[in-house]
Amino acid sequence: KPVVLSGCQPSGQLTLGNYMGALKHWVSMQDDHDCLYMIVDLHAITVRQDPKQLAEACLDGLSLYLACGIDPQKSTLFLQSHVPEHAQLSWVLNCYAQMGELNRMTQFKDKSAKNENNINVGLYSYPVLQAADILLYQADKVPVGEDQKQHLELTRDIATRVNNLYGDVFKLPDPYIPDFGARIMSLQEPEKKMSKSDNNPNNFIGLLEEPKKLAKKIKRAVTDSDEQANIYFNPTEKPGVSNLLTLLSLSTGKSIKALEPEYTDKMYGHLKGDVADAVVALLEPIQARYAEIRADRAYLDDVMRQGAEKASARAAETLAKVYNAVGFIPKP
Ligand code: TYM
Repeated sequence: KPVVLSGCQPSGQLTLGNYMGALKHWVSMQDDHDCLYMIVDLHAITVRQDPKQLAEACLDGLSLYLACGIDPQKSTLFLQSHVPEHAQLSWVLNCYAQMGELNRMTQFKDKSAKNENNINVGLYSYPVLQAADILLYQADKVPVGEDQKQHLELTRDIATRVNNLYGDVFKLPDPYIPDFGARIMSLQEPEKKMSKSDNNPNNFIGLLEEPKKLAKKIKRAVTDSDEQANIYFNPTEKPGVSNLLTLLSLSTGKSIKALEPEYTDKMYGHLKGDVADAVVALLEPIQARYAEIRADRAYLDDVMRQGAEKASARAAETLAKVYNAVGFIPKP
């Protein structure tokens, strides 16, 4: 089976964007792929975290993966910090990544513009750690949203450079970016992506938000102020309406083509009501499962322990291969 690897940061709660762009696909890939999914807590500390909150956020994230349908019997589910090989490979790859390459990373530029007082070295080499995450497992496919495309290109560049020097050390991973839903937009500012770190909570929907509250947010979403209040899909002309149609399509499983005619003579308010209902119907069962799982620390500990063990055994093989390639002497 092809190997699949992906991860989310444990910062804040996951959003509908994380779900539509990534998690939903992780779940459906489990049967015909060999999947590894992690919570990237090492990445999280590139911005300042409250230690207690970080620990809680990791358990929240893990519980949410499980509640969304990641099955620890089928997939390997773990916390990045439980598998030391990530940090070890990351160091080696730091020596094969160029500053010029990292200077071009748009996520670094955005994050350092927002965080002027803490532009730390970890934030800068963040994409190198991400490359280590992926290359450690010789992943074939990496299911992510559109915003991770540049990091995956860098991963391939670093892998190619190492392979050119030392032979076939790494498999070149392909990004798996869904054709549709890879960039869910903000509700109030539909020209920018939905993000959990947005200062305005009305811009995003958290997967654990109370149904009443999230329905209200959707009903308050910005629609488009062009002259005709028509409902059709065109992200450039009608970003707000197109985002709502996308959410509706992904929540109900109906295609945009099937949905559009249902709204020819309808008002924006009608569409928003339907989106709110569909998202609530999608999230309510996830929230119910989440509450049960999150309360069962012994179960979460089991999942973490088994996941880390499985992941570490595989990661150790690649790390040994890399250490050998660069010329480190194996411990006698
Ligand atoms: P993170 O935590 O920002 O996001 C997790 C996943 O959700 C996707 N995503 C979205 N998709 C559609 N619309 C949106 N508005 C939206 N917002 C986020 C992201 O593309 C991502 O797939 N650097 C990564 C974490 C990471 C990783 C990895 C991913 C670390 N190591 C190795 C893959 C492989 C990140 O910050 O994701």
